[in-house]
Amino acid sequence: MYNSKIIGLGYYVPENVVTNNDLKEFMDTSDEWIQERTGIKERRWIDTSTEDTTAVMGAKAARIAIDRAGISKDDIDFIVFATLSPDMYFPGGGVQVQDILEMPTIGALDVRNQCSGFIYAMSVADQFIKTGMYKNILVIGSENHSGGLEKSTRGRNVSVIFGDGAGAAVLSRCSDEEKAAGKGILSSHLHSEGKHAKELALEGPSTKRWVPEIIAANNPDDVSYYPYMNGQFVFKHAVGRFSEAIIEGLQANNLKKEAIDMLIPHQANLRIAQFIQKKFQLSDDKVHNNIHKYGNTTAASVIIALTEAWELGKIKDNDLVVLAAFGSGFTWGSVIIRW
Ligand code: COA
Repeated sequence: MYNSKIIGLGYYVPENVVTNNDLKEFMDTSDEWIQERTGIKERRWIDTSTEDTTAVMGAKAARIAIDRAGISKDDIDFIVFATLSPDMYFPGGGVQVQDILEMPTIGALDVRNQCSGFIYAMSVADQFIKTGMYKNILVIGSENHSGGLEKSTRGRNVSVIFGDGAGAAVLSRCSDEEKAAGKGILSSHLHSEGKHAKELALEGPSTKRWVPEIIAANNPDDVSYYPYMNGQFVFKHAVGRFSEAIIEGLQANNLKKEAIDMLIPHQANLRIAQFIQKKFQLSDDKVHNNIHKYGNTTAASVIIALTEAWELGKIKDNDLVVLAAFGSGFTWGSVIIRW
């Protein structure tokens, strides 16, 4: 068995900054309400006059990650693409990135695990590298939320939270020396609880509620094609599941919470991240948050935050890095990395 490691990181966010005050143009809200409840000050929303889409942003982040990995796009053996907001119903974003980057006929797989998408995608890539099936895997998380949010007072509890953006990592095989030194991805732990699927969901359009049916009904009160979130229910479950996933990862590696050098929590809500930070008694320099700038970018959130922390020099050789996420499904998980 091989160990896998991250050899390249990149992220891309659209230029268009939407502040909390900007949102007042569409809905009854306030900067105070949003900051107090979520920690968000602004987010990026795609300007529709630009070329940006979920796949295009994913490709932009991927180019940076591949470049920093010091390899060529032709050295990539497989693509794993995580999103809940693909450009097309089918095919998925993986093949679109493959096309944009003019990559050879390697396999491309899409992962649909919402806010835990990048954790799931990394875990999938890790398994392929561990077995020796692939050497270099491009893992992408990208979301275009802004196109599908209900930007009105009715949709405000959801629409103020979500932002657009993309991140990418190139995973590769550790050398024998690195493996002997205990480096690379140490473990990943994945969970889900489908009985709560409807608590954070977008039900239509889907094969159960197809477009012609929605059009024929012509019902202005129909909100099934906007995301629904039972905020307090999600919040309660998130704090518990985040903690469980981190504890599970630490225990699997015989590590204590004091061993954590950097925690990258999915940027769901600053209050959730602060709760976790307090629970694990981590100092501010051991947790990286950027929700104030980007909001919740779902499958892109963990990888944007990881890339940013790395760019800021907050992650050093041999650091124990913990990634954790929770989201719609419900799904949750963690990845433990010795950098
Ligand atoms: N601006 C102003 N007021 C708003 C608002 C907004 N954007 N959104 C909701 N409100 C109002 C509600 O209408 C409600 O008003 P009322 O008391 O007159 O009925 C009041 O604020 C409280 O709403 P509530 O939904 O109970 O707020 P909350 O304290 O639960 O906070 C969330 C809402 C969404 C911030 C919070 O529940 C949360 O963060 N949940 C977790 C979300 C999450 O992490 N999602 C991603 C998971 S991956």
